[in-house]
Amino acid sequence: MKNILLIGGSYGIGQAIAAELQYDNKIFVASRTNENISDLHVTHIPFDATTDTLDVSQLPEVIDGLVYCPGSINLRPFKALKIDAFESDLQVNFISLVKVIQTVLPNLTASNQSSIVLFSTVAVKMGMPFHTSVSASKGAIEGFAKALAAEYAPKIRVNVIAPSLTDTPLANKFLNSDEKKEKSADRNPMKKVGTSQDIAQMASFLLSEKSNWISGQIFHVDGGMSTLLVNG
Ligand SMILES: NC(=O)c1ccc[n+]([C@@H]2O[C@H](COP(=O)([O-])OP(=O)(O)OC[C@H]3O[C@@H](n4cnc5c(N)ncnc54)[C@H](OP(=O)(O)O)[C@@H]3O)[C@@H](O)[C@H]2O)c1
Repeated sequence: MKNILLIGGSYGIGQAIAAELQYDNKIFVASRTNENISDLHVTHIPFDATTDTLDVSQLPEVIDGLVYCPGSINLRPFKALKIDAFESDLQVNFISLVKVIQTVLPNLTASNQSSIVLFSTVAVKMGMPFHTSVSASKGAIEGFAKALAAEYAPKIRVNVIAPSLTDTPLANKFLNSDEKKEKSADRNPMKKVGTSQDIAQMASFLLSEKSNWISGQIFHVDGGMSTLLVNG
């Protein structure tokens, strides 16, 4: 049985990962809220990644898997984005992630081989208008993940999942009507908006031993959005 730490996991993609892995692993969810996970077999640790230092005394000495879920979709024209917006996107997506990994590094290296799963976005590969702030933050994650994977191979594997629009609370403002959902589905080559489970299944694979020869990769779980031109 592996010890898996989810930063976030109280809803959205992280909750789907917790639901998928709860019976075969010991799951720790570190998040600000826990109302949506009372039915899951997880241990909740109250934690705000942007302000708190994770209390490792609440965690096992060995951590086999770490997933960092907090993120943002702050879409605005570049000229409307103040520096504060770049700083706050960078903080929640990247700086707080680095801090968490530094805090639990001894626990991760105590495992025979641990796995870190991080989240980017389709917009890093594609170049999309109004994404300058979030793409910069997620681009930092992609570069960081590859360098960390190289530095800690073969002890720690590090991989990134880059989804396109996925139906979670984070994406609610883009999907809060049938019309918006249909338009978003139509823009995707698979004619579907992603579900939390679509992404959780890849995360679950990357946390498992089935992926023990995979590290330093960016996985585009996006319905083909970043590679297929179907309406051209
Ligand atoms: N959904 C999409 O369309 C989409 C697309 C591309 C990339 N992504 C990326 O995929 C990842 C997961 O996205 P999601 O859609 O599942 O997000 P979500 O619905 O916002 O869920 C985020 C999770 O992280 C936790 N969290 C947020 N801020 C936190 C903080 N400061 N401290 C501790 N926990 C915090 C939340 O719990 P609490 O509020 O309880 O703390 C929640 O469990 C993100 O990095 C996102 O950028 C998502």
